[in-house]
Amino acid sequence: MAPHTAETAALGGIFPGTRHRRLRRTEGIRRLVRETSLRPSQLVLPMFAVAGTGVRQPVDALPGVSRLSPDLLVEEARAAHDAGIGGVLLFGVTDQKDAVATSAYAEDGVVQQAVRALKAGVPDLVVITDVCLCAYTDHGHCGLIDAGGEVDNDPSLAVIARVAVSHADAGADIVAPSDMMDGRVAAIREGLDEAGHEATAIMAYSAKYASAFYGPFREAAGSAPGHGDRRGYQMDPANLREAVREVQADEAEGADMVMVKPAATYMDVIREVRGVTDLPLAAYHVSGEYSMIKAAAERGWLDERTAMMETLTAIARAGADIVITYAAADAARWIREDAR
Ligand code: PBG
Repeated sequence: MAPHTAETAALGGIFPGTRHRRLRRTEGIRRLVRETSLRPSQLVLPMFAVAGTGVRQPVDALPGVSRLSPDLLVEEARAAHDAGIGGVLLFGVTDQKDAVATSAYAEDGVVQQAVRALKAGVPDLVVITDVCLCAYTDHGHCGLIDAGGEVDNDPSLAVIARVAVSHADAGADIVAPSDMMDGRVAAIREGLDEAGHEATAIMAYSAKYASAFYGPFREAAGSAPGHGDRRGYQMDPANLREAVREVQADEAEGADMVMVKPAATYMDVIREVRGVTDLPLAAYHVSGEYSMIKAAAERGWLDERTAMMETLTAIARAGADIVITYAAADAARWIREDAR
């Protein structure tokens, strides 16, 4: 074996002078040189609100997640807040649907009621609301449908802005449009400002792909499209440069934060977007990505905690500041357990 001489050292990184395992030898050393550490405060928990009281409907395809009426939602959000999470992302689930998503902006709609309950019950909790039409339209699409059956961009904008304003009226801190219509960030910003909500922030689902991994979510929210699919407005999973253009457009329209979604299958997109914007960047570890780990763990094929933490840490390592995950409360507790 070659001795470690001045000559070999000058080459750099040469065995046996260099031994990578020295810094992996003990947990103490590994902690010392760890490059990425998740904080509970960067985790956001998606929650599903339904009408009523005392209602808890477990979602089969999303183990550990239930649709909750406002009273129980507040309890669960409080527990997650106590665990240190950074916020919740609210979705409404309702059977009151029509062609133009009237229930999406109703003052006493499910999300609006849930936001008020959360603000009253857990005042410090950051409340983000998903702004979309798909859970409130009878056709299940994210915008309005024109006479030819197409999702009609421009007329959808006013409705989407109206939904965002109704969420802000109820007390939402941040609204998060997920519809993927062009121009919705500008429309929402204008609507919010006109309504006196200039302090309400916009987290734009900027690079949202037409993904198979939303399957379990659509069961939870009852938001599967009745005809066709979402490929006419959500992004083609094969595209990276287009994500940059989406992010730049949303930034120009006034987004305060941007998002890449899904996350675990799109880490190159997260990394690319990180390089082109200075806005806070969120990544959404979506329902299918979460449920795959839960399902494999249930079968004993994966260790849930380590697989989940590895995935969430990798999303942060790729460049996400904020990680949206159904495992947020568990992960926050695990992080605290591990901290010394
Ligand atoms: C609404 C919306 C969806 C998700 C978030 N907002 C579903 C979809 O676009 O079909 C997916 C979230 C998840 O899968 O966890 N448009």
